[in-house]
Amino acid sequence: MKNAGLVAMAALAIPGVNACLSEYQANALATNFGKLVSAYSQKLANQTLAPGFIDYSESVNSLMDGGGSAPVALLGETFSSRAAFESASASQPSVPFAVENVWFNCDTITVRWKSAQSPQPVIGISVFHTVYKWANKPVPFLIDEIWGEFDSASWLENLGILVPASKKQKREIAFEA
Ligand SMILES: *[C@@H]1O[C@H](CO)[C@@H](O)[C@H](O)[C@H]1NC(C)=O
Repeated sequence: MKNAGLVAMAALAIPGVNACLSEYQANALATNFGKLVSAYSQKLANQTLAPGFIDYSESVNSLMDGGGSAPVALLGETFSSRAAFESASASQPSVPFAVENVWFNCDTITVRWKSAQSPQPVIGISVFHTVYKWANKPVPFLIDEIWGEFDSASWLENLGILVPASKKQKREIAFEA
């Protein structure tokens, strides 16, 4: 009995591939992901995303298309590698990004976030799948898959691409008057 307890304690003390995310680690990965959106750096991308990273988001695909389904397939991969994410992020202007909620289990993190854009705020929910990577780092996990969706209609309005129906109506009324 005493030996079994010691073995169990030793297993807990040595991080292994079966280790689970802690609250600190889940929050740190959520914060790092937010920083990649609001102030991208390749160093942070390397510390946060796995090399074989894949991102799926119909919202981002739709934004890239400016509506419609071309040139990016709406249901296809948004970024098929860390390098693809990096080249897109490095060329994008930074956007505000604040983490609102973090929920996590052993290897998955769900983040509800807010991008305080103007004139419309944008709320999104992103789910990160993680893989255990390093035994001797404070955050030994990397994100290898993200599924994220958000209010892309508001984002398109903020970019000036989409004119909301209410503004179109006002314009018609003004034209008739
Ligand atoms: C990030 O990782 C890539 C390899 O995936 C490497 O070429 C690059 O130098 C790294 N950048 C930094 C800043 O660590």
